[in-house]
Amino acid sequence: MELIPIIRPTLPPLEKIVEAFQESYESGSVTLGRVVSRFERLARAYTETRHAVAVSSCTSGLILAYAAMGLSEGAEVILPSFTFAATVQAVLWNRLTPVYVDCLPGTMAIDPGEVLKAVSPRTAAICPVTIFGLPPDFDELERISEKHGIPLVGDSAQGLGARYKGRPTGGFGFCEVFSLSPTKVITAIEGGLIITNDGDLAKKLVAMRDYGKGPDGEDMVFNGLSARMSELHAAVGMLSLENAKNLVDSRMRLIAKYREVAAHFPGCRVQEFPEDRSSSGNYFTLLIGHNARANRDAVRTKLKANNIESKRYFHPPVHCQTAFKGLPHRIVGDLPNTLAASGESLALPLFSHMTEGQLGRVCEALETVLTSKSFVT
Ligand SMILES: Cc1ncc(COP(=O)(O)O)c(C=O)c1O
Repeated sequence: MELIPIIRPTLPPLEKIVEAFQESYESGSVTLGRVVSRFERLARAYTETRHAVAVSSCTSGLILAYAAMGLSEGAEVILPSFTFAATVQAVLWNRLTPVYVDCLPGTMAIDPGEVLKAVSPRTAAICPVTIFGLPPDFDELERISEKHGIPLVGDSAQGLGARYKGRPTGGFGFCEVFSLSPTKVITAIEGGLIITNDGDLAKKLVAMRDYGKGPDGEDMVFNGLSARMSELHAAVGMLSLENAKNLVDSRMRLIAKYREVAAHFPGCRVQEFPEDRSSSGNYFTLLIGHNARANRDAVRTKLKANNIESKRYFHPPVHCQTAFKGLPHRIVGDLPNTLAASGESLALPLFSHMTEGQLGRVCEALETVLTSKSFVT
């Protein structure tokens, strides 16, 4: 039986990548050159924003964004614990203190009510995360941000291609940072994009991604990083972004089928999709509750026996992870929704070129353990 992977990058045709990269290759200008500029232009147009700064990854982009804000050591960043480790790693590399808050039970996005409870005189930023590709409640978060004068730094790693109230993600808050790693809907193989409407921030980030170089290229005027994007990565990113609609639409069609099938599994649920926003379709996770016909481990075992990959995601929640438990932090409340989501969610195979046959095989395997019928037999 052929393996069904949990995720596979849908890459542009190789000859198109070669064609897009050729001029840079021949000129020897292979990093931060013409293709990177073209890609940034395209990203600005796609996200309907003023500035796009291409970097080596979402993590380096987030590290640079906090660094550019010039925050003092120990200042607090409010973030969800139901997220990927990199959300907090970017905070910790800046010697800032994470403040973990709960997520909403339905969308699993950061709960604005909990954010309000977490605000303190030390709060320097709020970091909403685009969970599985679905934007958080940006309106409510922007209201809190404006009222308290605390910038939003969005970890939108999974969110390129999503929309909120008719607007593409990217333009919300002070900045949003996308990932272009191979597990993302729109990939550059590796890379990230910092999107902002703030010209001063963008200018600073352009210098900071290249060590912090000043105008003469010798005197460092900021403490930056080596976080450039190469021309080759930009070529892949640009071609992928040109194909964004197909990449997102095909995933959303597959997700719709998964959701239809999941509706027949007692005790299971799926991420809530409010009408005012749309997901990029980065991940599909099934939430397998205590009343389901099988527990999550049994479902994983069944899938594995059928040569189908799956992943507990996000598990464990960040505030419980070994590396971060011992570092300075604050936790607001008991995070019941985070613990529930982390205990129940199972990410299933999903990629833009996944076939209906592959999806059918995953659903059949799930049906053998999760339907009422399977309970009886
Ligand atoms: C929520 C979230 N934040 C950050 C990252 C890190 O992205 P990158 O690998 O581009 O640094 C990821 C990657 O999967 C992610 O899912």
